[in-house]
Amino acid sequence: MAKDPMRVLVTGAAGQIGYALVPMIARGIMLGADQPVILHMLDIPQAAEALNGVKMELVDAAFPLLKGIVATTDVVEACTGVNVAVMVGGFPRKEGMERKDVMSKNVSIYKSQASALEAHAAPNCKVLVVANPANTNALILKEFAPSIPEKNISCLTRLDHNRALGQISERLNVQVTDVKNVIIWGNHSSSQYPDVNHATVNTPSGEKPVRELVKDDEWLNAGFIATVQQRGAAIIKARKFSSALSAASSACDHIRDWVLGTPEGTYVSMGVYSDGSYGVPAGLIYSFPVTCSSGEWTIVQGLPIDEFSRKKMDATAQELSEEKLLAYSCLE
Ligand code: NAD
Ligand code: LMR
Repeated sequence: MAKDPMRVLVTGAAGQIGYALVPMIARGIMLGADQPVILHMLDIPQAAEALNGVKMELVDAAFPLLKGIVATTDVVEACTGVNVAVMVGGFPRKEGMERKDVMSKNVSIYKSQASALEAHAAPNCKVLVVANPANTNALILKEFAPSIPEKNISCLTRLDHNRALGQISERLNVQVTDVKNVIIWGNHSSSQYPDVNHATVNTPSGEKPVRELVKDDEWLNAGFIATVQQRGAAIIKARKFSSALSAASSACDHIRDWVLGTPEGTYVSMGVYSDGSYGVPAGLIYSFPVTCSSGEWTIVQGLPIDEFSRKKMDATAQELSEEKLLAYSCLE
């Protein structure tokens, strides 16, 4: 029997990521090839004409899974009945800007959209915040939508996770699908800690630790980490726009694994509400290694953390605590 359609909200849908993301959702890349969808697209009035153009293209593409389109500048209409909300709307970072510079513009948007989601989304709606500062926007959304369960609010660090997989696969000249269990700890910013201490590669003679195969701790502890931390800025420098196709694809990975589950023995990185695991202060949205099953994420517990990792995990937590204070000061 055919499944009922799921309603998926994309805010900022007339923007770069939105333009890459909505066809992926309509093709079943986010929720599965047997899952019909109704797309809700929100943007601001200044972008209404461009948003209508995106709607026209979606119609023209004749996606078999796409059962309806709501394209609107009205936040209540956009949020009504949605099962999944991908929050991309906001002001992107431009070349030379630090993420903190975009904070004041974006946190107020997330405060007001929190209320609309809380009042109008479907019960159990899963929320993914992509717009920067992603962790702190998600935290503000959580705090101003107290009736949405905290386990339903997340932010995107899967792009950083995928970037780490990509770097290791290039370095070892192996397929990216053979690398797993890298971890992004902390903030989606240059303070994040990309950790390969638990990562493995599938080889013809079985699974081997990444460190054993790379045989270059200096690169793993410095060059690799810096490349992943700075990749967003490197893309902006090269394209003059921030990453879009990789962000859209990673957003699909994030929601797909959350809804449909992670493969056995594989963990992925998600920015989620900290419960104090690994000594990370509770009350931050922090990226952890998680597994997903039956539509729920669980933080992977019990991984040994060495002194090098501890320092880096604490530094990114510290940045998030500072961002939280700054966000509240922007809202005053
Ligand atoms: P963009 O400027 O191309 O698009 C943003 C869209 O949001 C625009 O169409 C704009 O009109 C719209 N918008 C602005 N205010 C809005 C509001 N209140 N409600 C609804 N829509 C609104 O930007 P982009 O390149 O698509 O990037 C979007 C966001 O994603 C940025 O904040 C960027 O920094 C962030 N980003 C995050 C990641 C990640 O991994 N977490 C990766 C890449 C980009
Ligand atoms: C990215 O990681 O590509 C984006 O978050 C861009 C940015 O603003 O750093």
